[in-house]
Amino acid sequence: MSNETASRRAAMPTVANPILERRTVENSNRNLLKHLKPGLSVLDVGCGSGAITRGLAERVGTAGRVLGIDPGEKLIAEAQQHTAGLPQLAFQQADLFHFETEERFDLVTCARVLQWLNRPEEALVRMKNLVKPGGILAVLDYNHEKIEWTPEPPKAMQRFYGAFLKWRQDAGFDNAIADHLRDLFERNGLENITVEPQVERSRKAEAGFAVASRIWAEVAEIRGPQLVKDGYLSEEDRRQAIEEYDQWIAATGESMQLYLLAVEGRRSQQEEEKM
Ligand SMILES: C[S@@+](CC[C@H](N)C(=O)[O-])C[C@H]1O[C@@H](n2cnc3c(N)ncnc32)[C@H](O)[C@@H]1O
Repeated sequence: MSNETASRRAAMPTVANPILERRTVENSNRNLLKHLKPGLSVLDVGCGSGAITRGLAERVGTAGRVLGIDPGEKLIAEAQQHTAGLPQLAFQQADLFHFETEERFDLVTCARVLQWLNRPEEALVRMKNLVKPGGILAVLDYNHEKIEWTPEPPKAMQRFYGAFLKWRQDAGFDNAIADHLRDLFERNGLENITVEPQVERSRKAEAGFAVASRIWAEVAEIRGPQLVKDGYLSEEDRRQAIEEYDQWIAATGESMQLYLLAVEGRRSQQEEEKM
């Protein structure tokens, strides 16, 4: 499918999206904590509504600099609200594939974004070139094929999830991108590559299970209409998935685990820019 289809499917729907604002560096990008120190410059690619980005800015302090970019106009407008009291934090509406700047950053981070791009390697090379020589590129992403639910979710949600993965795959998105990141990093000359599991597990016995496990009902609410419009699912199936999944959370659901890897590498000190 075309780049146009991929961009349309990747675009965040403009309805209220509570998922992004629940995230913090600590609960959703903890691999970055070890790097964050006063004075660091950071670029957050695909920052969404900026909740994680704000946490980055708090940690690098006023001697640092954090820039979040995202193509979503409404997301960037929401993100601007996070800059209050943080002069080191800025947001810019920009698509990575067209983003131009002379600035280079100590750390370039990209969380849960490559899963939505049909040219992830081109994106990776672009991001590497935005890192200062000797600086760090940190990518966090999913392998959606490795999700675990205990017990199995209702058939209606299984159908929705299958349609979601197929809809994504047909647009050229890699559902297993997390497990392909190391190769991408190696092929493109990043050094000192590390791979850290970052699974997000929620259990019924723990606080927050209902909210965390409901992410799939929220995806059916927020993204589901796009699948229906593109002919991957009927509206009735979408509604049934939400209803039965909510019953599963309230009654039989025990746990849900998302599989993510944080892959990081250093840009070579010697490297010449090729772009
Ligand atoms: C799942 S959200 C992740 C937001 C945030 N990084 C987080 O971890 O919560 C994916 C984000 O990628 C953005 N995105 C999609 N295509 C992009 C592109 N070409 N360049 C930069 N960001 C992009 C979307 O607008 C969306 O905000």
